[in-house]
Amino acid sequence: MNHDKKSLPIGVFDSGLGGLTALDELKRILPNEDIIYFGDSARIPYGTKSRSVIEKFALQDTRFLLSKGVKAILVACGTVSSNCLDEVKNLAGVPVVVGVIDAAAEKAAEIAKSGNDRVAVLGTSATIKSRAFEIALEKNGVGEIISRACPMFVPLVESWHTDTDDTATNAIVSEYLSPIAANPPAAVILGCTHYPLLSEVIQKYLPESELVSSGAEAARRLASELAENDLLNRSGGRIEFYTSGGAELFVENAGRFLSSDTVPNANHIDIENY
Ligand code: DGL
Repeated sequence: MNHDKKSLPIGVFDSGLGGLTALDELKRILPNEDIIYFGDSARIPYGTKSRSVIEKFALQDTRFLLSKGVKAILVACGTVSSNCLDEVKNLAGVPVVVGVIDAAAEKAAEIAKSGNDRVAVLGTSATIKSRAFEIALEKNGVGEIISRACPMFVPLVESWHTDTDDTATNAIVSEYLSPIAANPPAAVILGCTHYPLLSEVIQKYLPESELVSSGAEAARRLASELAENDLLNRSGGRIEFYTSGGAELFVENAGRFLSSDTVPNANHIDIENY
């Protein structure tokens, strides 16, 4: 049953490189899946754009993945997941479409329950404005939620200011997190898939809090939904990378994002054609 569908690839997209933090986990837990990754590097950041622009970009990204015949889509972008996941689902029409909100909210709620019942959400401006994480956390019964937009984090990550002793990074992280550190939450959701690259610096300012990677949690959720739908592939393992930006630069940066040594090849596509 589902034999042909099982061998189809999984599509993953983000505004750029951040979704690779989700892809990393996906590869680790589902090594036999074929994966198509699209990073919209030419149009990053999404997090500072209006909802209608985010939706337009997300639907183009989805159309591109559908043109590759994917069986499932991982929306590895907090900004898209929080603003227009339903629109992506409606367009996609594939059995499994997973965003980064629900699984991360559930995990954070679980941590909060065995701690001080407080969760902080860090995300892009558009993600925080949408209140999607807050709504999901409230549904999961979390007592206190603190939300913080961190618009400077994505440029820091994209320009490789990720070291724990980087002066600029410390100044910015401290500025965003000091109000939260005054009364530390049990869990902190890294609601933008770029942010796990800043985990060490963030942890420095919030040493008592448990960090939740929204991308990694979403990858695990996708794996369980594929299993439930009898769609797991046991004979693949190829990954193809596509970007709307420069392919060479994407390969160089992706190599730094991914934990494995595999330096991928990337193909440039014109996303405006989708
Ligand atoms: N990776 C995107 C997210 O998870 C953030 C980058 C952007 O602003 O485009 O929200």
